[in-house]
Amino acid sequence: MASPKAFNIVPSDLKGPTDSVTLITGGAAGIGLQTALLLHDICPKNKIILLDHHQLNPQQAPESFIKSNRVLALQCDLTNWTSQREAFEAGVQRFGTIDNVFVNAGIAEYKDQFFKDELDEQGKLKEPDRRVYDVDLAAANDTVKLAIHHMRKNKNGKAGGNIVLTASLAGYLASAGAPLYSAAKHGSFALFRLILCSLCLSVLSHSCCNQKVKQLTIFLP
Ligand SMILES: NC(=O)c1ccc[n+]([C@@H]2O[C@H](COP(=O)([O-])OP(=O)(O)OC[C@H]3O[C@@H](n4cnc5c(N)ncnc54)[C@H](O)[C@@H]3O)[C@@H](O)[C@H]2O)c1
Repeated sequence: MASPKAFNIVPSDLKGPTDSVTLITGGAAGIGLQTALLLHDICPKNKIILLDHHQLNPQQAPESFIKSNRVLALQCDLTNWTSQREAFEAGVQRFGTIDNVFVNAGIAEYKDQFFKDELDEQGKLKEPDRRVYDVDLAAANDTVKLAIHHMRKNKNGKAGGNIVLTASLAGYLASAGAPLYSAAKHGSFALFRLILCSLCLSVLSHSCCNQKVKQLTIFLP
């Protein structure tokens, strides 16, 4: 079996996408926000829809971006289907189409709950906190579902679109101290592999340093 090929891209190498609409989940901070800034600067015709439960923070994004008429920042809870569906609809209503979807929002493992027991008020084993599954797996699956739904309509089904998923090394290797996160990210890869059979997708893994995207590494599975 051929070993996976990896290659690196620096921001100056990026020539596209141009003149397209990109929806990013978890776009108010971190990798999602840095990607949005990059896309906004690459082409003056690019439009960006950000879905996040936080507003854009002027300390993290320049005013020229926050006030840009090419940016639509929508507050939404991605774990709520109606909320996420309405946000997609609002994005289409504003910019007419969605060409690219970056399935990026994610949260880290919540405490060390897997190996440490917490008890409820009755002294019984407390139900696990499953937020990491809800965001990193279920909400991400919902984003892919909504992306496919909207992209099918692009130019009467002739244009399609691009879907990029942020996974993690934890999606390849079990990450020590993060069993639920690892399980969720493995789930993302499973989803990706499954839909790869019928759709043309890219999978993107990021190296993030000081909250700036310094380098993008694309693994071709
Ligand atoms: N930072 C890293 O080094 C690293 C490494 C590997 C993978 N990742 C993955 O990259 C992705 C982005 O990570 P990041 O470091 O930029 O995270 P971040 O915490 O900086 O940003 C995530 C954003 O998602 C939003 N979000 C989370 N849950 C949400 C919900 N239910 N509804 C709406 N918005 C929600 C948050 O408000 C936040 O703005 C995640 O999927 C993460 O697992 C990050």
